[in-house]
Amino acid sequence: VSPDIQQMIEAHELLRKFYHHLLINTKDGQPALEYLLNRGFTMESIVKFQIGYSLNSWDFVSKFLLKRKYKPEIMERAGLIIKREKDDSHFDRFRHRIMFPIMNRKGNTIAFSGRSLGDDEPKYLNSPETVIFNKSKTLYNFQLARASIKKLQKAVLFEGFADVIASDRAGVENGVATMGTSLTEEHVSLLRKNAQSITICYDSDKAGIEAANRALEMLTDAGCQVRVALMPEGLDPDDYIRQFGEEKFRNEVIESSLTFMGFKLSYLRRGKRLNDEGDRLLYIEEVLKEISNLTKAVERDHYLRQLSAEFSLSLEALKEQQKQLYYAKK
Ligand code: UTP
Ligand code: MN
Ligand code: MN
Ligand code: MN
Ligand code: MN
Repeated sequence: VSPDIQQMIEAHELLRKFYHHLLINTKDGQPALEYLLNRGFTMESIVKFQIGYSLNSWDFVSKFLLKRKYKPEIMERAGLIIKREKDDSHFDRFRHRIMFPIMNRKGNTIAFSGRSLGDDEPKYLNSPETVIFNKSKTLYNFQLARASIKKLQKAVLFEGFADVIASDRAGVENGVATMGTSLTEEHVSLLRKNAQSITICYDSDKAGIEAANRALEMLTDAGCQVRVALMPEGLDPDDYIRQFGEEKFRNEVIESSLTFMGFKLSYLRRGKRLNDEGDRLLYIEEVLKEISNLTKAVERDHYLRQLSAEFSLSLEALKEQQKQLYYAKK
């Protein structure tokens, strides 16, 4: 490890402790702490996830780091401070935000994401890509969840920080998140290496359901067993847990997650009125396409029978059309 990288990680570790101290022990951190407690975060989670607070100051961290002999140019490349255009001075990237440290697989802090306390934009401000932080390879909470993931051979994939932390509180300790970026092949291979089965638990809003559909395809193609957990329209896991409680989340969301086809059927139904003839025919055709993609003959047979029963269609007609789609693909 080069001395520059060592300095960058050291500075992140130092700031993680400092931000955490500000949140839990100081008057400056009190509004942020109250915000978190009001949102249902517990002190236990705040300590476990080392959540912190960055001061409402333009240069507190810049001075703090320089006083400790960290080189400004290296701290700038680490994404912690930003150089002003007009002179050689620097200002802090993170100001007056709730700080979520992001760790690498060894548990070292390599980046931060800072959430605004109110409606300030952006909602989450993230560290940029640096030599120590590669977003497309990093999964939030992987270092804490790893043991549980390996033991259960199962991981739960979330969209964001609050979802991972609320689920952990609810007893789901094998959760990780992609932090706003879409799932990459590197994330997929990291998950595949550590677990047989993945449950996608993205937000149940339009963007989340579209992203879940893409993640489902990628993980299935990589050979994972995949399930998708859905919640009532518009909710994310953190909202759901606060509204319905931890036990319901475990039983009715995580344990009741849908299989590949179960999710596809509900995905294809979205926005369609199945008592409308045109929508119904479109739905049937789209379902037949999905059935053609199944590799197991028994599964194809199973879903064809289900479709035939649901819409009172002859199994022969469905089979014939499905075969055409199947061979058209080859
Ligand atoms: P969401 O918009 O669903 O936020 O983005 P959230 O996790 O529910 O946040 P809360 O509950 O309002 O606090 C999902 C994830 O996308 C990333 C974050 O990682 C967030 O957790 N994101 C979102 C950003 O990086 N920047 C943003 O401005 C917004
Ligand atoms: Mn979302
Ligand atoms: Mn959300
Ligand atoms: Mn949201
Ligand atoms: Mn949320």
